[in-house]
Amino acid sequence: TSGKILVKGGTVVNALHKEVADVYIQDGVIASVRPNIIVSDDVTILDATGKYVMPGGIDPHTHLSMEFMGTETIDDFFTGQAAALAGGTTMNIDFVIPVNGNLSAGFESYMNKAKNSVMDYGFHMAVTRWDETVSEDMEVMVKEKGINSFKFFMAYKGSLMINDELLLQALKRCKTLGALAMVHAENGDAVAEGQRKMIALGITGPEGHALSRPPMLEGEATARAIRLASFVNTPLYVVHVMSIDATEEIAKAKMSGQKVIGEPVVSGLVLDDSWLWDPDFTTAAKYVMSPPLRKSGHDRALQAALSTGILQLVGTDHCTFNSTQKTLGIDDFRKIPNGLNGIEERMHLVWDVLVESGQISVTDYVRITSTECARIFNIYPRKGAILEGSDADLIILNPNASFKISAASHHSRSDTNVYEGMTGKGKVEVTISGGRIVWDGELKVIPGSGKYIKMPPFGYLFDGIEKADSADLSTLRSSNTRSRPAT
Ligand code: URP
Ligand code: ZN
Ligand code: ZN
Ligand code: ZN
Repeated sequence: TSGKILVKGGTVVNALHKEVADVYIQDGVIASVRPNIIVSDDVTILDATGKYVMPGGIDPHTHLSMEFMGTETIDDFFTGQAAALAGGTTMNIDFVIPVNGNLSAGFESYMNKAKNSVMDYGFHMAVTRWDETVSEDMEVMVKEKGINSFKFFMAYKGSLMINDELLLQALKRCKTLGALAMVHAENGDAVAEGQRKMIALGITGPEGHALSRPPMLEGEATARAIRLASFVNTPLYVVHVMSIDATEEIAKAKMSGQKVIGEPVVSGLVLDDSWLWDPDFTTAAKYVMSPPLRKSGHDRALQAALSTGILQLVGTDHCTFNSTQKTLGIDDFRKIPNGLNGIEERMHLVWDVLVESGQISVTDYVRITSTECARIFNIYPRKGAILEGSDADLIILNPNASFKISAASHHSRSDTNVYEGMTGKGKVEVTISGGRIVWDGELKVIPGSGKYIKMPPFGYLFDGIEKADSADLSTLRSSNTRSRPAT
């Protein structure tokens, strides 16, 4: 191919607007978007009549090549991203896990893991320890390495968790650097207690995972993180919101004007915890993730929260282990590697559950699967839009074709799929990444072709924060000033 592509006659959808137009792609970028573009005959033409042409999905939450719970995720940057492309996602933001608490070493290690990338990617960074070195390294990450978000684990006591004292210091640091603080919100101390209780009761199977860490522990940690972020006046991003309890806290904070973002993940939107009671260990174990899947009802509430704007974007927390790896916890649910798939399924399932069902519009679909993520992480409109000058990362979705999910046909390296057998309307027929057709029913990926996307600090969530700080100060001064009685 010439590297020049014309996507003809489709409905081009952006987050706020859709219209029938052609999209002309050259040198990896979108050169033109308007009706009836005339091109020379060395251009590849794709007919998108009757179909939607949309920005490729951006998955804000993945774990590829992550060492975790005594093993390593089965999908690396090659297989995970190939799966993503086959499902219409053209960028992922993965989590760098520090090496022995060291951020720079973690960053180098993940840059190396990502060498065989087949699509663009960015990084968040987990902070699992706190001292002067970590604090200084955060500045290096932000100013030199293109990282503008840090994740703190309020759970995984004894490994990744940091306590409130350290979390507060870290939140303050995020604020000065213009980096977005992200939290895994579950009360890790209470989870440890709940786990001991289950084991003492003789409950060692996967159902013990759900029973040991109920929604209230997610609600409590979400509320606590929100208060601490408010106390230092910095924006907060809550990853993998799984429950009504956590969603209510986010809604409350939003109504008081606080800048809080909630990210549900696909599993939480379409699955419930009944799987964890399956008598077959292999079946039940594949659904173990944290926070756990919840009782039926939470899933529909999360959908409603997304459709009303209480929650703003959808991730996956793609973190795959095959059935053999899951047997690490055959005698003890605490040792089942936490995580499940979704990077390939997200675009289809969100379409089916929210658009096809009539809960959201096509433009809202683009917003929650792509544009909002690009805005939050400050890479819009290079990503998340079909506009002149944007990167040529886009998909053609046929609303009249169907998708069907199965481990037998998926592109993840995992031998199982938590969405096995699910079908629905709306199929990603073509994925274009970096101006190349990488999926048209078959994958055409080139290892090493994905670019690292640096994400600059002080994204839109920081707008007005400095002003709010000085307003606070003047309010404090005036409300505490009283005239002294004359002497
Ligand atoms: O179970 C999960 N979510 N595994 C990945 C690590 C995390 O907490 O995001
Ligand atoms: Zn227009
Ligand atoms: Zn997490
Ligand atoms: Zn995660």
